[in-house]
Amino acid sequence: MIILALETSCDETAVSLVKDNEYILADLLSSQIDLHQTYGGVVPELACRRHIESIGPLMNEALAKAGIGLSKVDAVAVTAGPGLIGALLVGVSYAKSLAYALGKPLIAVHHLAGHIQAAFIEHRKIAFPALALVVSGGHTNLYMMPEQGRYRLVGKTVDDAAGEAFDKGARMLGLGYPGGPVIDRLARKGDPEKFPFTRPYRSSEHTDFSFSGLKTALRQCLMKIPQSIKETTAFQKDIAAGFQEAIIGSLVEKTFQAAQKEHVNSIIICGGVASNSLLRTRIETAAAQHGISVHIPSPRYCTDNGAMIAMAGFLEFERGRFASLNLNPKPQLTLN
Ligand code: KG4
Ligand code: ZN
Repeated sequence: MIILALETSCDETAVSLVKDNEYILADLLSSQIDLHQTYGGVVPELACRRHIESIGPLMNEALAKAGIGLSKVDAVAVTAGPGLIGALLVGVSYAKSLAYALGKPLIAVHHLAGHIQAAFIEHRKIAFPALALVVSGGHTNLYMMPEQGRYRLVGKTVDDAAGEAFDKGARMLGLGYPGGPVIDRLARKGDPEKFPFTRPYRSSEHTDFSFSGLKTALRQCLMKIPQSIKETTAFQKDIAAGFQEAIIGSLVEKTFQAAQKEHVNSIIICGGVASNSLLRTRIETAAAQHGISVHIPSPRYCTDNGAMIAMAGFLEFERGRFASLNLNPKPQLTLN
């Protein structure tokens, strides 16, 4: 059984062909980072136009890589939300046309379910109940999973997402877009104690996050530093380390708070920010201390990709949940 999966929710066009929920025949990505870098963030109109240009050639390339024709495809899965409406529309329209032309079922996938299912690409046996932290550019959500394919929201950001905090922080520091990878790289050689930021929204009462205050804290800190110092790499490394520490500290603390409250056997960390090196080591150390197993996809499956949409698509297929050709994408689609 082969699923062709399309992902166009934000700034990456991704196409994947996956066989039997397991074998990745092709997993291609056309990144738009160069396009949006000039603006310091994703420009929705430009993103849609690039998706339109990329999707057809990328699909043909994926088929060639897999060595199969379209007739071998058994179902078409596509991200139906959440995401940028214009960007989502490109993938959904393309998927609907394909499904119609091939006479094959269409599957609507929730982008965050895709991120969570990415963990199952490399970790086939994850013990339930599990807790999934989805930490990306647009979301910071904690989901309780009593079993495979069932999700209950138990925590979320009340304002900015963690990836957004990285991106906005990097922008203030003049480090370019996307901010996460560059802050991660700089922070490795910095001292987090030099510019400490208060870990935001701490409380044993809830498992929600808040990251927008960190922007203000960073702005205030930068106002006090002379320009000549701000331009040094030593300063950039230390400030990156301090800023990153506050975000990652909060993510780790809240994740384990929720894991204990919900008595889970496993933790899944996924989404673009899950490729952060400090988050990965901190989570692994804490998981070993708590005796909980942790599963984090390889970095290439943390950021947006097509294979994760195919994986979530297989679950829908198994349950007989298909979309109609009237499918419309939803920018605010919820997961439950
Ligand atoms: O999941 P993703 O590719 O797209 C969304 O669904 O949003 O996540 C993109 C986000 C960006 O905010 C980016 O800065 C962040 O993931 N990111 C990272 C790292 N790599 C990507 N954040 C921290 N450290 C990283 N190494
Ligand atoms: Zn994503």
